[in-house]
Amino acid sequence: PSLEKDFLPLYYGWFLSKRSSENLRKTGQAFLDELASIKVFRKEAKHFGQPSEDPKAKIDLTGYFVKRPPGVLHCTTKFTDYGKAPGSDDYAQQEAVKSSYGKAFFLTISALFITPRTAGARVELSDQQMLLWPGDVDVLQPAVSLPKGSRAHITLGCASGVEAVQTGIDLLEFVKLEKAGNKGEEIGEIGGGRLLSYGNGLWMLQLSKKIEVRCVFSGYYG
Ligand code: A2P
Repeated sequence: PSLEKDFLPLYYGWFLSKRSSENLRKTGQAFLDELASIKVFRKEAKHFGQPSEDPKAKIDLTGYFVKRPPGVLHCTTKFTDYGKAPGSDDYAQQEAVKSSYGKAFFLTISALFITPRTAGARVELSDQQMLLWPGDVDVLQPAVSLPKGSRAHITLGCASGVEAVQTGIDLLEFVKLEKAGNKGEEIGEIGGGRLLSYGNGLWMLQLSKKIEVRCVFSGYYG
């Protein structure tokens, strides 16, 4: 046994390979560009910081989601805050977490989404990956519990003044709507999949061909 207490990372998660990260950023960018050019989307200008007077004016979504994650993209499993977050020690001590540390995975991305706050990719976890998913993060405060893994996502960008933690909360908002029977309004097929609008600036692209990204499960110490 070591004399020093192990110290925990800021968060655990799957970190994309450089190549997968670059490709996913490009795919996300292409989605924003295409969305911005769609007529019905221009009616959403007011949700994305632009006066809605001119329906011909293109919304600059790239400029809107200015806060982009530095380095390679990742999918957070547990935010441990160096051990200060509730449930950190329990998570870190789990057999699955210890044995998967430093191991390679393929994550499946099933959809891309944007809200007036964040842009992200929805991750569909396999049963094996679900073993690394914490039991306490799929909750929309104050008290809406959603199926395990509902929150799994990769943050692609945040609006100015918005913290990355918001992306997972926004995804839970979509899942809550889905659970309530709201399937979204189908706008049509665009490059990559089926575009759905849920109102209030919530948009989702369900990919016709899911994306596989190569990752390593690890911790980030900052
Ligand atoms: P996300 O996983 O949605 O991208 P920051 O850069 O703000 O320090 O956050 C570092 C990472 O940890 C980000 O990936 C972020 O969100 C995630 N994160 C930050 N705070 C929390 C939290 N309270 N709960 C869950 N994840 C968090």
